[in-house]
Amino acid sequence: MCGIVAYIGKKDAYPILINGLKRLEYRGYDSAGVALLNDKNELNVYKTKGKVSDLEAFTKAKDISGHIGIAHTRWATHGEPNDINAHPHLSRSGNIALIHNGIIENYLTIRKELENRGYEFKSSTDTEVLVNLIEDVQLTQKVDLFEATRIALNHVNGAYAIALIEKGHPDTLIAARKGSPMVVGIGKNEFFIASDATPIVGLTSKVVYIENEEVMKVKLGEDLKLKTIDDVEITPYIQKLQLNLESIEKGGFDHFMLKEIYEQPTTVRDTMRGRLHADLGTVTLGGIFDYEKKILNARNIIIVACGTSWHAGLVGSYLIELYSGIRVKVEYASEFRYRNPVIFPDDVVIAISQSGETADTLAAIEIAKEKGATVLGICNVIGSSISRVTDAGVYTHAGPEIGVASTKAFTAQVAVLTMFAIRLAELTGYIPKSKIMELIHELDLIPEKIKTTLERSKDITKEIAMQMKDVHNALYLGRLQNFPVALEGALKLKEISYIHAEGYPAAEMKHGPIALIDKDMPVIFIATNKSTYEKVVSNVQEVKARQGKIISVVTEGDVLVKEMSDYVIEIPDTECTYAPLLATIPLQLLAYYIAVYRGCNVDQPRNLAKSVTVE
Ligand code: G6P
Repeated sequence: MCGIVAYIGKKDAYPILINGLKRLEYRGYDSAGVALLNDKNELNVYKTKGKVSDLEAFTKAKDISGHIGIAHTRWATHGEPNDINAHPHLSRSGNIALIHNGIIENYLTIRKELENRGYEFKSSTDTEVLVNLIEDVQLTQKVDLFEATRIALNHVNGAYAIALIEKGHPDTLIAARKGSPMVVGIGKNEFFIASDATPIVGLTSKVVYIENEEVMKVKLGEDLKLKTIDDVEITPYIQKLQLNLESIEKGGFDHFMLKEIYEQPTTVRDTMRGRLHADLGTVTLGGIFDYEKKILNARNIIIVACGTSWHAGLVGSYLIELYSGIRVKVEYASEFRYRNPVIFPDDVVIAISQSGETADTLAAIEIAKEKGATVLGICNVIGSSISRVTDAGVYTHAGPEIGVASTKAFTAQVAVLTMFAIRLAELTGYIPKSKIMELIHELDLIPEKIKTTLERSKDITKEIAMQMKDVHNALYLGRLQNFPVALEGALKLKEISYIHAEGYPAAEMKHGPIALIDKDMPVIFIATNKSTYEKVVSNVQEVKARQGKIISVVTEGDVLVKEMSDYVIEIPDTECTYAPLLATIPLQLLAYYIAVYRGCNVDQPRNLAKSVTVE
């Protein structure tokens, strides 16, 4: 969702900005633009609907010189995606250019006030309103751009990450954030600003994460200046960037999504490294060790998350309850934040998020904190907003996930939650020690079994994808912890192939979806559960009786479901509760190949964003 890149230094800004935008493409966007201040004090703005490559084509014969510039990929919120609404936006005088990620909620009121004073607006965006508000403050209060930005931001509600440049000031870059993320890279007499660290990788390893309601000024030859919008000076906290170039490149795969699917044996191992001690038969989650007592004494444990992370949370709730006897509620962060939830100071809220920047999840955390609850995080992106605002947490260590459809982040989240459930089992003594040892031993084998699953699934998922590529609907069914797998499988298909798909608990089929079943409806069963196996067999029979196409994910050695299925994908035998870590893999591959056969843009599906930083 909207990407921001800015540069100031001695080098040509344009290639750095374009390269940065390309690295942010994974976030999802529909238009792109750049503003450059050249040595003749001309502020050139180029923007276009479409991809960064369209912007490059557009600027081919243009003046792209300048050592300072700002660039943006826009994911439309106010006004359709077109050239006019694309960023950067210029102030009325044409002196200031601004890029913005987020939503200014009271922009209409501000716009009216400015219109009453003679301002005219070219676009339908909240961003053009903001740049004019800043200029208005600058002119009426006779202050510099840094101060004008600070003052103006006191008048806006909503979320923003902004960067500004100004004619006549080729040595100064201004930026600020609230809600939407922003990181600053500090080089040798040069600075980079970006929505996340990916554009900065390889350019510098010194970064500062800007906090909410902070305004920043970088001036060549001076140290970075940071203050709150209330005018309190802040000392910047410089950190070392923990990302390398290799981890954000495709490494020989056709798409990031495929690379990330194939990384899972390694990423799940990385998630468990130093935490799962198969030799000792123990689990340690250092990040939340100090909070274990609080967790055990919690009145409620509530997981909040969105999208795929919510599915992981649901898997986790089954495991925690089963191993530790502790009840866990799983909530959509977007619902939780608005329904005035009953939260007690002795509740523990666990926020799960790949990006660590999802606006709804951040808002849910705020509410939980206001009510005094302890908030823990399970995040992938190190240094992300959620990892910073939570009391403690566990990183998933899956490495950067670039494909919009989440894959390796999901299995990493499930791996963390599985270890968490086992740790709670150790602490509560709810299941016998011998069972805990078995669980730990088996979890240690999972990365190898993911590898086997990938090998076994590759050809068969391609074959099924070829058959399924023209269907209009698909139904995914599973029971217990395979129900979230069904949800996740359906979500993957929807996200990247645009085929309508639904996930259901298998037994719920008879309460509605069964009416949809005919020869054109593929039904994907996740039938690995031993305890409910016979029940699933009956569900498969019900679909078969109505001529539905049956694709099943079963445990190796299966007979009954296999016989009734049109296509079968076998996964290695494992603990029933670990099936999500394996059964999800062929569903990821299936969605991937279907999307490829349909000619879809796998890594950047239409209308979707990787990091949903606005509501
Ligand atoms: C977006 C992404 C999904 C992701 C969801 C939650 O919708 O496209 O892949 O699951 O946001 O994101 P988070 O970063 O909080 O896990």
